[in-house]
Amino acid sequence: MDYKDKLELLLDLGKVISKEHDLDELLTVLSDITIKILTADRCSIFLLDKKKNELWSKVAQGVEKKIIVPLGKGIAGYTAESQEIQIVIDAYNDIRFYNEIDKITGYKTDNILTVPLINKNDETLGVFQVLNKTEGFFDNEDAEILILLAEYVSSILENAMLYDSLKGMNESLEKKVQEEVEKNREKDRQLIQQGKMIAVSDVIGNIAHQWRQPLNVVSLLVQNIEMTLENDGVVNKEIDKSLLSVNQILDELSITIDDFRTFFNPNRQKEEFLILDALNDALSMVKGSIDENAVELYIVGNKKLKHYGYKNELCQVFVNLFNNSIDAFIDNESYGEIEISIEEIDNHVVIIFKDNGGGIKEDIHDSIFEPYTTTKHKAQGTGIGLYMVKSVIEIHMDGTITSKNTMLNNQEGASFKIKLKCP
Ligand SMILES: Nc1ncnc2c1ncn2[C@@H]1O[C@H](COP(=O)(O)OP(=O)(O)OP(=O)(O)O)[C@@H](O)[C@H]1O
Ligand SMILES: [Mg+2]
Repeated sequence: MDYKDKLELLLDLGKVISKEHDLDELLTVLSDITIKILTADRCSIFLLDKKKNELWSKVAQGVEKKIIVPLGKGIAGYTAESQEIQIVIDAYNDIRFYNEIDKITGYKTDNILTVPLINKNDETLGVFQVLNKTEGFFDNEDAEILILLAEYVSSILENAMLYDSLKGMNESLEKKVQEEVEKNREKDRQLIQQGKMIAVSDVIGNIAHQWRQPLNVVSLLVQNIEMTLENDGVVNKEIDKSLLSVNQILDELSITIDDFRTFFNPNRQKEEFLILDALNDALSMVKGSIDENAVELYIVGNKKLKHYGYKNELCQVFVNLFNNSIDAFIDNESYGEIEISIEEIDNHVVIIFKDNGGGIKEDIHDSIFEPYTTTKHKAQGTGIGLYMVKSVIEIHMDGTITSKNTMLNNQEGASFKIKLKCP
């Protein structure tokens, strides 16, 4: 090939480089033109993997598989390490020659020309290699051409790496933005929930205020009846019993109103409390449906166990768990039983809340703590209960909650394990 033909091929290459954007395609075209200009049989472009300390073939004409050459091994490995151009006339008589690759590929290497691929900071990117000149051996003029072509390859590779790192940066930025959006959503959900709680707290406050007055009046009327009966000397055990019941119901109503008020009170404070007290507070709120459905309750373990934190929030957690169990009993038409065990294990309060309501349905089990997961009718559930439970436990109480289906007294049911770190 004369000088004019070589120049023409180089000009063609310039055109390809400016048009082609696909890295693999670009390097393949470059290799094809290289073997034409240098009248070589094969051409390879090796890239350096700095972490593994080895070269791997990005382009290897005539070879399907990726070729791996340890750094420092063979002519290519030597070129990468020393950053020196190598012209080898008789490969098998050069002690540095690494014939393993010929063994794998079944190719017979006679003569070699390699030049290092170097970036702007003088760091090795890889090696550009041509094998077996069709006539004679590679000479200094070939080496000069390969150096020129290697410049192209290096700059193409550097651009591609720059592009990749920019792409990586872009992707990690996108991920960050997404994470922030998710965090904001989470905050929104909590704000909505807090807003709801405050609104409910206001309503309950008003109802409580309005109810206390008639309750006091009823209480006074009962006292009046009692006094009148006493003054008139009437002795009637039935009436006395009924009046006693009325008084008890009035007391209970008054306590229930107070319970609701403290439950929804947003001004929470950390305090030391008995786990059993939080449980009893919750029970007084769900007493109606527990009694209505004749739910059997077993509280086992350490009833004297105390914890420092937000009692009201643990009470909210229990209320949600009770409501879910009761819903399961109704759905399952089963005779409901709930067992709650309280233990201290390895500096943690461990509460296991079990029921026998048939268990959590398999298809939603993985997502029950996510918002809006529900198997209930719109009017019955929104699927926010367990999400709030998890948020309260994890964010406010430095704890965890997990769930599984287990047996309680030979019947399948759901089991929730709450772990709170003791301060
Ligand atoms: N004890 C349980 N037994 C069986 N399934 C349960 C139990 N607790 C929860 N689940 C299942 O998990 C789903 C999600 O519960 P979660 O409390 O988050 O929402 P919900 O009860 O459906 O609605 P919400 O609590 O907002 O009124 C329920 O719909 C139900 O299918
Ligand atoms: Mg619920």
